[in-house]
Amino acid sequence: CGIIACIGRPEETVDVLLSGLESLEYRGYDSAGIAVRNGDLKVRKREGELENLREAVEANPLSGTFGIGHTRWSTHGPPSDENAHPHTDESGRVAVVHNGIIENYQELRDELEAAGTTFVSDTDTEVVPHLIASYLDDGYDATTSFQRTVSRLEGSYALAVTIAGEKAIFATRQDSPLVLGIDDGAYYLGSDVPAFLQYTRDVVYLEDGQTVTLRPDSWSVTTSDGTVVDPPIHTVDWEAEQTGKSGYDHFMLKEIHEQPTALRQCLSGRLDPLEGEVVVDELTNLDTPERVQFVACGTSYHAALYGAHRFREAGIPAQAFLASEYSTAAPPIGDGELVIGVTQSGETADTLSALRTAQGHGAKTLAVTNVVGSTAARECDHVMFIRSGPEIGVAATKTFSSQLVSLSLLVESVAPDVSGSRTRDLVDSLRNLAGNVQSVLDDAEDINELVDEVAGSDAYFFIGRGYNAPVALEGALKFKEITYEHAEGFPAGELKHGPLALISEDTPVFAIVTGDDAAARKSLGNIKEVQARGAPVIAVTDGVLEVERFSDSLLRIPKMEGPMSSLLANVQLQLVAYEMAAHLDRPIDKPRNLAKSVTVE
Ligand code: G6P
Repeated sequence: CGIIACIGRPEETVDVLLSGLESLEYRGYDSAGIAVRNGDLKVRKREGELENLREAVEANPLSGTFGIGHTRWSTHGPPSDENAHPHTDESGRVAVVHNGIIENYQELRDELEAAGTTFVSDTDTEVVPHLIASYLDDGYDATTSFQRTVSRLEGSYALAVTIAGEKAIFATRQDSPLVLGIDDGAYYLGSDVPAFLQYTRDVVYLEDGQTVTLRPDSWSVTTSDGTVVDPPIHTVDWEAEQTGKSGYDHFMLKEIHEQPTALRQCLSGRLDPLEGEVVVDELTNLDTPERVQFVACGTSYHAALYGAHRFREAGIPAQAFLASEYSTAAPPIGDGELVIGVTQSGETADTLSALRTAQGHGAKTLAVTNVVGSTAARECDHVMFIRSGPEIGVAATKTFSSQLVSLSLLVESVAPDVSGSRTRDLVDSLRNLAGNVQSVLDDAEDINELVDEVAGSDAYFFIGRGYNAPVALEGALKFKEITYEHAEGFPAGELKHGPLALISEDTPVFAIVTGDDAAARKSLGNIKEVQARGAPVIAVTDGVLEVERFSDSLLRIPKMEGPMSSLLANVQLQLVAYEMAAHLDRPIDKPRNLAKSVTVE
């Protein structure tokens, strides 16, 4: 989602808010809204693209001396006019825009409803204006009502709020970005600098727990206990055209770098580290299935292969099918089957058709998707959201990582774990995951050199076993999608059954070897097979066994016990594909012939 707020430009408030939302549309685009105040509060909000909001504003103009705006990416409740932000209290005193997830919203909603408040949306956000209003009713002033409300919230949030009687915007953040823009006589807030970059380059990056108060002629930042802070003001040196990409050359690179945040968001409120348990609200009504079938396409199919492996390890028979084959060559499907559609967009025609086939045979269906309100989310019996935030680059990156994590959470939610140790181990490793992904991203400087060395080869192969087999397939898919070079991925053991005929000095082999088990030892054998035939070997590894001795180059990942190390290896391969495509000057975000979401079979 994207937030914009502006104070100090009374003539142009509405224009500033709308153009800010346009610059932030890449953060979400299923509904948008603004609230402005000139004494009275006026709100316009619409489902769909920003254009719909613009039309509503033209048809029914509004003006105000300051205001807030929002472009939404649904996490609670489908896209609709009611669920669009800003949200208000019943008397129209308070308006709120919010990014993030308020984890204890149900508890707060129950409390407010019991006290007689009527809610008009399905969102977690709506508790905020009602709670502020309840403190105003109790006689607190606006600032205190805002602070008291914030102290009750759990989860992640960036909030911007206007409250009747105050020519002010109150805002705060916790695990969700918020930036203050400072201009001569005008102040802005944005979830990212592009929101106001056309007006000012002087910014304050707010820290978690800080509150900012903007008035027409002043701004101030305080900590949660009210202490005034004097934050540093930075001057950004971006050009306007870089903005939607936050300074990255491509959306794909930006999305690769967003993975630590996306993973935290995916895990938010779903781990109980004290008990070593996983709690996924959406899945509480899902029983343990007798058997599992996955249906998916492209990158999501690779995530499905990983998910099927995890289910089998947990003792539940599971298989992944390419969705396009499922309807034509359907396996036996019965009512003991749980059929899981893994689909980032929730709109891929092949996957929807496979899910409908399964439903026609009486199977229960589950959509694992990034898009609230998508067709898959609406049509399946159950839905689990991967919460990656919008992905713009055609080549899927952060959504794949969030799919692997979501499927891991799914297994722990439905497959019995008698000793509890499997879930506990996973919870431990998930807690370190975002930090480990960050360190892969921070240590990526060797990749350019490697790309220079291997560019111009005849073909590129990717091999891995077990959990690393789907990552080998995904590494090759990403590489071919954006570099246009020939790349193939294989489960490492298959190499000798055919593809080995292609191996030569001109075919670099990316070998993913993690852990120190039988699969890793056998993969080392496969490395030796290709090296003996002259192929340069690039090992993606956490440094086990003698991998280094038999490899020409190394891409290191931090050591992590268990299946999550495959996710780290995949991040390295995303960077390899990206750097090679950049080296070859390809149109990375929009590869030829491909589409982000393919809605024909
Ligand atoms: C298209 C995209 C792929 C994607 C596949 C499945 O082919 O180009 O990147 O993996 O669709 O998309 P989904 O939205 O169902 O995950």
